[in-house]
Amino acid sequence: MPSTLDPELRRALAERVRYCHEMGFYDFYRREPRVLDVAEVESVAAEAVSPSSLLASSSILQPELREEMSARKSAVVRTIAEENVFETPKLEYAVSDSAAALKLIREDLGDCTRCKLHKGRTKIVFGVGDPHAELMFVGEGPGADEDAQGEPFVGRAGQLLNNMIKAMGLRREDVYIANVVKCRPPGNRTPEPDECDTCSPFLMRQIAAIKPKVVVALGATAAKNLLAMNSSLGELRGRFYDFKPAGARADSSWSGARLAVTYHPAYLLRDPRQKGEAWKDLQMVMKYLGIEPPKKAAE
Ligand code: URA
Repeated sequence: MPSTLDPELRRALAERVRYCHEMGFYDFYRREPRVLDVAEVESVAAEAVSPSSLLASSSILQPELREEMSARKSAVVRTIAEENVFETPKLEYAVSDSAAALKLIREDLGDCTRCKLHKGRTKIVFGVGDPHAELMFVGEGPGADEDAQGEPFVGRAGQLLNNMIKAMGLRREDVYIANVVKCRPPGNRTPEPDECDTCSPFLMRQIAAIKPKVVVALGATAAKNLLAMNSSLGELRGRFYDFKPAGARADSSWSGARLAVTYHPAYLLRDPRQKGEAWKDLQMVMKYLGIEPPKKAAE
């Protein structure tokens, strides 16, 4: 069982709870969800917002009618609680091939204008690497080089990340690399919460499509957004977290990833003394993945 909620699920849950409170329901029971197909979701959603179910809370109705409506309302809310309507099924859920699923997510992202970051971007930086990678790195957001080339981690921080990957005995092409936000924040500022909230569902879907064994969060922005925790990087490092995006909960072919947190390569460029600590984090990941470091890095 994941020890944290991913932001996408947390938002959907908050919305659902608010809706239920508006309907007068305050007691909730936990039950394992299953993913609805599109038709089922539409029918439950239509029922939930139909004038009859809304009227059921009105005091102008005859008592018998109110009782009947109230029973109907309970049935609808029970259905909602029992089924997984936290997540609208996405097109890629029907696709088992990771590369095809990533393509569908990229198409859905389109020429994105969902948040203000689109105004200053040159290229959307979707992600790069092996769609079947066991290991995935998640950074904060594109910088100037990434914005120009449309690929994550190609600047100075990217060179260091490449070296870190090499030290692990892997090649850049063996892993998958993405960011919390896909457009460059102006002046390389930290992405704002609304920008992360808008963009991170696409990252969650990428992770769910790739089904990595390990996700490494590079820096505080990635760690906090993936884990929906507000602790400092120092507190978050040094252990694994169970991680499975909300949209993948019903995917029995993947039990989820382990998530590790380490320093962002740009931070390591500013403070190289922390490289040893970052290497410890990567060694924890290598041990879990059964990767032997190349001779030179091990010496
Ligand atoms: N920093 C990031 O967080 N991501 C990039 O892609 C490049 C630099």
